[in-house]
Amino acid sequence: MNTLHLTNTQSDIERAAAILRDGGLVAMPTETVYGLAADALNGSAVRRIFEAKGRPMDNPLIVHVADFSDIERLRLVSEIPDKARALADAFWPGPLTIIMKKGDVIPDEVSAGLDTVAVRIPSHPDAHSLLLTSGLALAAPSANTSGKPSPTTAKHVINDMEGRIEAVLDGGACSVGVESTVITLVADTPRILRPGIITREDIEAVIGHVDVDHAVLNKLENNEKASSPGMKYKHYAPKARVILLRGEDEKYITFVNRRYARDKSVAAMCYDEDKSQINAPCITIGAMNDEVAQAQALFDALRAVDELGSVTTVYAHCPRATGVGMALYNRLIRAAAFEVIDLPGKRIIGLTGQTGAGKSMVAEKLREMGLPVVSADKAARLAVEDSEIKAMLCAAFGDVLLPDGTLNRKLVAQLAFSTPEKTAVLNAITHPKIAQLMLKEAEACDGDAVIFDAPQLFEAGEDAYCDIIVGVLAQPKLRMERIVRRDHITRDQAALRMSAQFGEEFFLSLCDDILYNNGTAEELDISVKELYERLVGQ
Ligand code: TXA
Ligand code: MG
Repeated sequence: MNTLHLTNTQSDIERAAAILRDGGLVAMPTETVYGLAADALNGSAVRRIFEAKGRPMDNPLIVHVADFSDIERLRLVSEIPDKARALADAFWPGPLTIIMKKGDVIPDEVSAGLDTVAVRIPSHPDAHSLLLTSGLALAAPSANTSGKPSPTTAKHVINDMEGRIEAVLDGGACSVGVESTVITLVADTPRILRPGIITREDIEAVIGHVDVDHAVLNKLENNEKASSPGMKYKHYAPKARVILLRGEDEKYITFVNRRYARDKSVAAMCYDEDKSQINAPCITIGAMNDEVAQAQALFDALRAVDELGSVTTVYAHCPRATGVGMALYNRLIRAAAFEVIDLPGKRIIGLTGQTGAGKSMVAEKLREMGLPVVSADKAARLAVEDSEIKAMLCAAFGDVLLPDGTLNRKLVAQLAFSTPEKTAVLNAITHPKIAQLMLKEAEACDGDAVIFDAPQLFEAGEDAYCDIIVGVLAQPKLRMERIVRRDHITRDQAALRMSAQFGEEFFLSLCDDILYNNGTAEELDISVKELYERLVGQ
């Protein structure tokens, strides 16, 4: 099938209307997103929408009409509640969808077997013309392939639907950018099923208290039933993995930059103001305090992720979940498959360095000076006591538990350090847990700055949480002597250990501050005091 590309001239709108009256599919612009329209009262036309989108049949559609009187005239609903009239007066035509008890004319394909129907009067002039010209009620979900971000331009629609539908009506970019707010009036208390640009507060100002469905902000458990079937599906997701970072803007920027320093396949989805400070490729979604602009840009931004090429992970700054932010949060958390990283509220000082350089001594001295120290080694020991981690280790390395259920550490070490690939498997399992335990301990510490004492700060990805990173370095000759003395091993064994670690260049390029420990104990005391001044004097 060739998809016709129509403009919004009256003659093209008449062509589109004719296609719809014949049971065809037309993608139409609305103020929210493009909709994929068919005659709502023609079950077989509606069925084709599901085929074109690859949409599960149990996900009901919104019925669009030109005017409030059409709802009664066409008997779309069995009863119009007073609150529906009040909401219609306040927000229609506009980006609000109201769920009511359905009328008998609604085909099962539209309601997906429910006894309710979703109705909306769009404000976009082209949608309005098409509704008027066709004289139809139009069932229209967003015109994307199921699971992808909703389309906000005709080009997005063409990318997804070319050859699958009769026509696309190009009405330019959608002004709202996220789909309508969906509210059900069928429940005892009106309940928002999907947040949009019309906020909870806007609605409450008209009809009083409304609930927000649990699934708007939370992941549904496997056995939980979705009030709005659309909420249970993976949605809005680009091919790259999206991860939300929740925390202060500076922490967000630092996190992304540190990850990018180690991994060139990461990118940022950030605010306009962040861009100049972020080293990774950026997709901006608008000014930090302009949630309306962010909503408009969001889906285009999510689609743009896949055009960045080799990007595997995108870090997006987690929006607040109130006001218009609730709509942004609801879409982004689904794009991220609910993966959120909480950035620490405290200042984190990373302390790392080469073996034998004296990092532990420096950590101990800083602790004595009053800075709490969180040890990565201690977290690593705790991490492997976690039952989930133990199960993952058994899945990767076979039965590695002792008869009492604790981990056979020796066996794991033997298996995991046999090849670099197996070491990477071990690290992928334990590192995120270790970081999580360290962050938890940091939050529980007194004061607002905490030291992360971590020999593998960079390898384990703990660096990204650090506001400042200090590397402790020393000459190889001195380190060799210290290791031999400390661990009672031969010089050859010490040399082997040293060669397995990163060299000085590595630390110089990634650390923000360097402490050289090449002198006497007294000299070290002075260096640590000076470091302390630099760290807390700022
Ligand atoms: O802004 C919009 O609402 C766009 C434009 C085209 O109008 N349409 C749109 O449709 O976003 P769609 O199908 O992508 O999303 C409709 C949502 C789905 O999550 C669906 O499950 C829910 O509304 N829904 C529709 N009818 C429902 C009903 N009777 N009960 C509960 N949820 C319903
Ligand atoms: Mg949709």
